[in-house]
Amino acid sequence: MLRYLTAGESHGTCLSGIIEGFPAGVKITPAYIAAQLRRRRLAPGRSARQTAETDAFDITAGMSGGVTTGAPIALIIKNISREVPPPSSLPRPGHADLAGMLKYDTLNAALIRERASARETAMKTALGCFARRLNELLGISVISRVISVGGAIGLAIDKAPAALRRARREGDTLGGEFELVFENVPAGLGSCAQADRKLGPRLGSALLGINGVKGFEIGGGFVLAAMGGKTVLRDPELSGGLDGGMTNGRRLVLRCAVKPVPGLPGGAISTDLKSLRKKLSISKTSDTTAVYAAAVVAEHAASLELANALLEKFGGDSLKEMRPRVEEWRKRTRRILQRL
Ligand SMILES: Cc1cc2nc3c(=O)[nH]c(=O)nc-3n(C[C@H](O)[C@H](O)[C@H](O)COP(=O)(O)O)c2cc1C
Repeated sequence: MLRYLTAGESHGTCLSGIIEGFPAGVKITPAYIAAQLRRRRLAPGRSARQTAETDAFDITAGMSGGVTTGAPIALIIKNISREVPPPSSLPRPGHADLAGMLKYDTLNAALIRERASARETAMKTALGCFARRLNELLGISVISRVISVGGAIGLAIDKAPAALRRARREGDTLGGEFELVFENVPAGLGSCAQADRKLGPRLGSALLGINGVKGFEIGGGFVLAAMGGKTVLRDPELSGGLDGGMTNGRRLVLRCAVKPVPGLPGGAISTDLKSLRKKLSISKTSDTTAVYAAAVVAEHAASLELANALLEKFGGDSLKEMRPRVEEWRKRTRRILQRL
C-alpha cells in the first residue's frame, strides 16, 4: 500500500513529505519534479508570491543514484516567503480560519491559516511526481485541461485571460472547472466489493482533498441525471472509465469544480472574535483563480491514488517485478476488450 503524509506551514522553514510503500527501481530526475512544481507555481491566475517562491527541494531519503530504493522517500521544499503573519482574531470568510479557531480553541487565525494554506499542495505535487512517473513507466499517461473559468465554457474559455484581468482589476476572484484524463489504464483496478475499495470514491477523496475543490464528477457526472438510460448506454465513454468502482479498460475521465478563491483583495466583511465587531478582512496576496494550479495538483493527487490501485492489483516491491505482471494482464484483458 502506498501512503503519504505532508507537514509544514505556509511561511515556515519548509514543507516536508514522505511517501511510503513505493517500489524500487523507478528512475526519476530532479528536473522531472521541478517541471511539475513550476507548472503549479506559475499557472495562470496566481499571485506575486509565486514569482518569489522557487520551490527548491531536496530528496533526503529513499533514492540512490537517481533511482528509488523501496525505502520511504522523504522530501523537503524550502519556503522563500517566511514572513509569518501576525496574530489575528479576524477569520477570513470562506477559509479554514473560523472552523479551525473553534476546533483548536484559539483566537489566533494565523495558527490555522498557516497549515490550511494551499502552499501544502506544492508538496502534494512533488510526492505525486513519484506516482506519476511509476504510472508512466507502466504505460499510463495523465493530462488536465481547464474547461471553464468564471462561468466561461467551451470556446469562451479563450476569454478567460481577459476575465481574470477584469477580476483582478475589480478586486474579485474566479472559480472554474478542470478535467483530468488518464489514458491506457488497465481494466480491473479498484473493487466492487466494499465502498472504501471502490476506485471512484478513492479518486474523489484525493481530488476533493485539494483546497477549494467543491465538486467531483466521473465521466458524464451530473449530466447523466438528466439523460435516458438508452442514450447513456449508447455512449460507453460516459462511464468515465469506471464501472462498479473498477476501471473498465477505457480512458479515465474525471472533472472537478473549484470555488472562487475566498481571499478577496478588495476585502470581505468578517467578525473579529475578540471584539465581536465587524471588520474588513483584506487578502493582499491572493491568487485571482486557483483553477489552473489546482488542475496540476489534481494530476498528481489522482496519480497517487492510481499508483496505489496498481500496487494493490499487481503487487511487487520493484518496477522490475510489477512491469511483466501489468503487461501480462494487459495481454489477457485486451483479448476480451478488443472484441467489445
Ligand atoms: C493551488 C491553490 C492556490 C490557492 N490560492 C489561494 C489564494 O491565494 N488565496 C485564497 O484565499 N485561497 C486560495 N486557494 C483556496 C484556499 O486554499 C481554500 O479555498 C481554503 O483553504 C478553504 O478551503 P476549502 O475551500 O477547501 O474549504 C488556493 C487553492 C489552491 C488549490
